[in-house]
Amino acid sequence: MSTDHQLAKIFPSKSNITLDQYKELHKQSIEDPDTFWSKAAKEYLDWFRPFDKVSDGSFEHGDVRWFQGGKLNVSYNALDRQIGKNPNKRSNDIALVWEGDEPDDIRKLTYEEVLRKVCQIANALLRMGVRKGDIVTVYMPMIPELAMTMLACTRIGAVHSVVFAGFSAEALAQRISAAQSQVLITADVGCRGGKQIPLKDIVNDSLTKMDCDSIVKHVLVWERFYTGDAESTPPYEMSARDVRMDPLVAVQRPYCPPEHMDAEDNLFILYTSGSTGKPKGLLHTTGGYALYAKMTTQISFDLHPGDLFACVADCGWITGHTYVVYGPLLNGSTTFMFESTPVYPDEGRYWDMVQRHKITQFYTAPTAIRLLMRYGDEAPKKYDLSSLKVLGTVGEPINPEAWRWYYEVVGNSNCTVVDTYWQTETGGHVITNLPGVTPMKPGSCTLPFYGVNAAVLDPQSGKELTEPDEHGHYEGVMALKQPWPGMARTCLGDHERYLNVYFRPYPGYYFTGDTVSRDEDGFHFIIGRMDDVINVSGHRIGTAEVESALVAHPAVAQAAVVGQPHDIKGQAICAFVMLTVGYEETPELLKELRGSVRTEIGAFCTPDLIVVTPSLPMTRSGKIMRRILRKIVCGETDSLGDTSTLADPSIVDVLITKVGELT
Ligand code: WTA
Repeated sequence: MSTDHQLAKIFPSKSNITLDQYKELHKQSIEDPDTFWSKAAKEYLDWFRPFDKVSDGSFEHGDVRWFQGGKLNVSYNALDRQIGKNPNKRSNDIALVWEGDEPDDIRKLTYEEVLRKVCQIANALLRMGVRKGDIVTVYMPMIPELAMTMLACTRIGAVHSVVFAGFSAEALAQRISAAQSQVLITADVGCRGGKQIPLKDIVNDSLTKMDCDSIVKHVLVWERFYTGDAESTPPYEMSARDVRMDPLVAVQRPYCPPEHMDAEDNLFILYTSGSTGKPKGLLHTTGGYALYAKMTTQISFDLHPGDLFACVADCGWITGHTYVVYGPLLNGSTTFMFESTPVYPDEGRYWDMVQRHKITQFYTAPTAIRLLMRYGDEAPKKYDLSSLKVLGTVGEPINPEAWRWYYEVVGNSNCTVVDTYWQTETGGHVITNLPGVTPMKPGSCTLPFYGVNAAVLDPQSGKELTEPDEHGHYEGVMALKQPWPGMARTCLGDHERYLNVYFRPYPGYYFTGDTVSRDEDGFHFIIGRMDDVINVSGHRIGTAEVESALVAHPAVAQAAVVGQPHDIKGQAICAFVMLTVGYEETPELLKELRGSVRTEIGAFCTPDLIVVTPSLPMTRSGKIMRRILRKIVCGETDSLGDTSTLADPSIVDVLITKVGELT
C-alpha cells in the first residue's frame, strides 16, 4: 500500500522528554552501544550472575551475542521479580485479564496466581521428561494457559515453538518435524466467533503426517471447558501418548526453581515465512530478547503503573510473544489477552472491551482498523473510550485514511498513535514513534528505536543513499547497520540460510526484505516487501508456500502466486495456475484448489482469486516473471516493462483479459 507524503502533516503529541533529548540518547546508543545496553540490562533485568561482556560477534558471521556470561531466567524476571519488588502490592496485582470468545467469559489472574500455575505447569513438564534445551511445540487457542505454558517452558529452559492454531495439520506437522519436537501441547478445542475449532483432531491428523508419529512422544491436552473434575471423562478420545494437562498440572507443587539460563541460551523458536516454500524457524535467545521486549513495551507504549495493556494479536505470531506475554509481564503491568475476533458478537467488540476493562494501550493491525472503519463511526462513538492513551498499529503499512480514523474516531484526537515497524526476526520494535516524544505523521513509523541504526540502501549498489529524489526523499532498501539485543540469532538447523537471507544480500547490513521511503525529516514510510513474501491481513505469507500447496493438487501443473492490493486485507492472494492435461476449469475444481491451500497451510491463506491459464509468463530459461503478474493484478498494465524476453509474449494479453473478466 502506498503512503501519501502529501497527507503527512505533522501531528503534535504530548511531551515528556523532548525530541532533541531522544535524538541525543539515540545517538549515544548507536555510538557507544555497550555503555547504553549494559546500563539498560542492569536496570531492566535481574541477573543470577552478572554478564562479563556486553556484546560481541558480527553480521558477517552471524555470531552476534549479547551479555555473555550472564545468567538469568525470563519467567523469574516476568513473575518473581515483580512480586518480590513490592511484596505487599505486587502480589495482589493483576498480571493477566483474559476475555474469551463470549464477552462475559472473563478471567483475572494475579501475579501470584500466574507464578503458582506457571510453576505447576513447569513441574508437569519436568514430570513428562522435558529438560532444558528441548523443543516443545505449542498449538493452542488464546487462553491464559497458553501464556502460562510459554512461561513454564522458559522456567525450565525448554524452548517453545508456538504454532498459530489457524495452521492446518499439514503445516503443523511440517513444524513439528523440522524442530524434531518430542512434546506437543494443545487443547481439545479453541473458540472463535461462536464456533469451536477441533484442535485435538487437527493434532491427531498432523501426527499421521511426515515423520511426526515417530517423533512425538507425548501430547499434553488442555481442556477448554475443564470443570476441575479429574475423574470426568475427557471430551476427546485419548490415545496412548495423550495426557490430560489440567489434572496433571493440578497435582504439581506450585513452586519450581527457575533454571539459570545463559544469556545466549535458546529461549524460543518461531516459524515464519520466507521466499522459499520451507518456513524458517527463527531462534531467539534469553537475555537480549527479554531486555528488548521489556524496553520496547515500556518506551513505545509509554507504560505506567496501573495501565491495562491490550495487544489483541495471537500468541501464534511474534506480536503475541513480545507484546501479549513477555513485554507487559516483564514490566509488571497488566496484560490483556483476547480469544475472539473484532466482529464477534458485533463490530463494537473492541470498543466494548476498552470501556468495560478501561484499557489504556490498545494494539492491533491496520487490517482490523480498516475492517472496523467500514462499519462507520457509530460503534466506537457508542462507547466510553476515554481510558485510552496510546493506540498501536503493526504488521503492515497503515494507509493515512485508516490512521486518521484510528486517531480521530477511536482516539478522539487525544491519543498517540504509535506505528511500530518490526519483524519476527527483530524481536521487538525497530522503528516507531515514542508517545510524547516523536511527532506523528500518518503512515510513518517515524524514527528508529534506541540502539537501532537504520539505513536506506540503493538496491543495486548496496550503498547508503546520499542523494534525495526530486521530492527530497530517499527510497530504497530498509536495512539495519548494527546489532541490537532483540535480533534473532539463527534459523534453527540452517545457519547458512540465516546468513544468505539476512546478511549476504547487502554485506555489512541486516536486510529486512522491505522497501522504505525516508522523508526530509528522516521519517520512515515502509512501502512493502521486496521479496516473494506477501502480507495478508497482517499475516506474513510466502508466495512459494501457497504455490506448493496448489501444486500438491494433482490438477495443478504449475502455479504462480502474487499479492493484489485489497481495501481491508492490505493484500489479497492471487494465484495463477496451469492445469495438468486432462483437467478442466470448473467451479468444483476451483473450490478444491482453495481447499488444497486450506489443508496444506490454513484457511487464512486461501486465495481470493484463482486464474486458470494455458501458460505462465516465463523467460526462455523457464523462470516465471512474477513482476508481470503483479502488474497485471494491480491493473498497471501500461507499465509492464520489457516483455520481449518472454518465451511467449502473447500470454500477457490473454492474462490481462482473463483477470479483467474475473475482477
Ligand atoms: C511488515 C510482524 C509497515 C513488514 C511484527 C515486515 C510493517 C513484516 C509494519 C514483518 C509497520 C510490520 N509498517 N509494515 N508498522 N510492521 N510490517 O514477521 O513488511 O509477521 O517485514 O512481524 O510486516 O512481519 P512479521
